[in-house]
Amino acid sequence: MAPKPRTDRSAAPLHVVILAAGQGTRMRSALPKVLHPIAGRPMLEHVLATAQSLGAACCHVVVGHGAETLRAWLATAHAGATDLQLAVQAEQLGTAHAVQQAMPNIPDEARVLILYGDVPLIQADTLQALLQVSGDGLGVLTAVAPDPYGYGRIVRSAAGAVQRIVEEKDATPAQRRIAEINTGVLTAPARRLRTWLDKVGNDNAKREFYLTDVVKLASRDRVRLRTVAAESLEEVLGVNDRVQLAAQERAWQRRQALAMMRQGVGIRDAERFDLRGSLLCGQDVHLDVGVVIEGEVELGDHVHVGAYTVLRNVKIGAGTHVESHSVLDSAIVGRGCRIGPFARLRPDTRLADQVHVGNFVEIKKSTLGEGSKANHLAYLGDARIGSRVNVGAGVITCNYDGVNKHPTVIGDGAFIGTDTQLIAPVTIGAGAYIAAGSSIAMDAPADQLTICRAREQRSLPGWKRPKKQ
Ligand code: UD1
Ligand code: CA
Repeated sequence: MAPKPRTDRSAAPLHVVILAAGQGTRMRSALPKVLHPIAGRPMLEHVLATAQSLGAACCHVVVGHGAETLRAWLATAHAGATDLQLAVQAEQLGTAHAVQQAMPNIPDEARVLILYGDVPLIQADTLQALLQVSGDGLGVLTAVAPDPYGYGRIVRSAAGAVQRIVEEKDATPAQRRIAEINTGVLTAPARRLRTWLDKVGNDNAKREFYLTDVVKLASRDRVRLRTVAAESLEEVLGVNDRVQLAAQERAWQRRQALAMMRQGVGIRDAERFDLRGSLLCGQDVHLDVGVVIEGEVELGDHVHVGAYTVLRNVKIGAGTHVESHSVLDSAIVGRGCRIGPFARLRPDTRLADQVHVGNFVEIKKSTLGEGSKANHLAYLGDARIGSRVNVGAGVITCNYDGVNKHPTVIGDGAFIGTDTQLIAPVTIGAGAYIAAGSSIAMDAPADQLTICRAREQRSLPGWKRPKKQ
């Protein structure tokens, strides 16, 4: 659930700096790391959305490697956004240096929050807690890591006050045993942060300008430092390679699935559920294993979705069952329908109530009226089909002449016999009965039997089956 944005007008404007300049070498990809998707959206998009939900006045994305690709992405995905700025860090000299690149665009009275483009699961609630606890001082988000290797460690005094953060490479063996780690997320008043960043040096094992050095500088200036511990390590984990990307994808999906279950959606297995978009569900909706939801999907009460079915930008009415291995894309389905297994609804398909679409039926840019059925092996494209129509097995609308698409119109209550080709443009009257195996190239009148197939059927009594020579 999104926390309330900060509405207190006396509060300093929030400026979020998102670090995204690193190369991401271990992804072994031409795509900048932060554009790799979690749940179908770039990692950076998740972080931007979280920042926005906190009521950020402005987000500053620090880019370096892949800067041009990122600039182009921001220009399309966030065209015209006035609360988004890019800062270029030409050389990656360390996290303090990265933040410094954004500082010229941040006013003195701002509160700065530093996030990471490759830490996509960070939660608004956690950040809100950090901002609250930090007041007008310095705030650091920490976590407890069972294996803290590689992280900066939080060094505290006997009384528990944070003294400094020491990086893995600079840590003593005793410090390396500290399990409390720095997540990298930090908040500070802009005016102070600016002066501290100017003082950070690179006299350390990595010859980098460490953002973590502001902790020492703050305690020297007697600025209050507070920490908040993230509830789970999972939420603050960064993504460096495709293994970690997949792990964070699962974590994100699990989080979504559990939230939906708590809202009453029946999900058979949270580990085999993928939502890449938004899902709105009525009561007692059931999703079997391996369902993939993309774009905006709306499911009415008592909708059942079978195993390994893909739903993309669809709206499905109450009581409809979609059986396994079906793919529904940009379609509107009425109530009480039966779809699949192995059905494919392509864009601009509209099914009225009580429609049946069976196995290996493909429908494109067509409407089927109430109670109509196409139960097996059919292709219906550019067709307007009335209600109570029966489309037999193997029926094909020949909608394409190699250049143009043509419509097929079928009236209410028509019966289209198996293996019929409807050569469009063609109209079948209401109540018409088309004999099996017909090639219909002309309009068929209402309420009549129309038949169009080779008349003669011959059998040769003396015929011998051919033999191998
Ligand atoms: C940093 C922290 C460490 C913390 C860890 C959490 C410092 C000095 N250390 O270490 O305490 O436990 O994160 O993951 O801050 N980046 C830039 N420009 C740079 C350098 C880094 O944009 O010049 C970005 C990277 O793209 C990356 C992030 O900052 O997303 C962290 O940088 P990284 O070099 O991985 O820092 P760590 O050594 O992991
Ligand atoms: Ca790192």
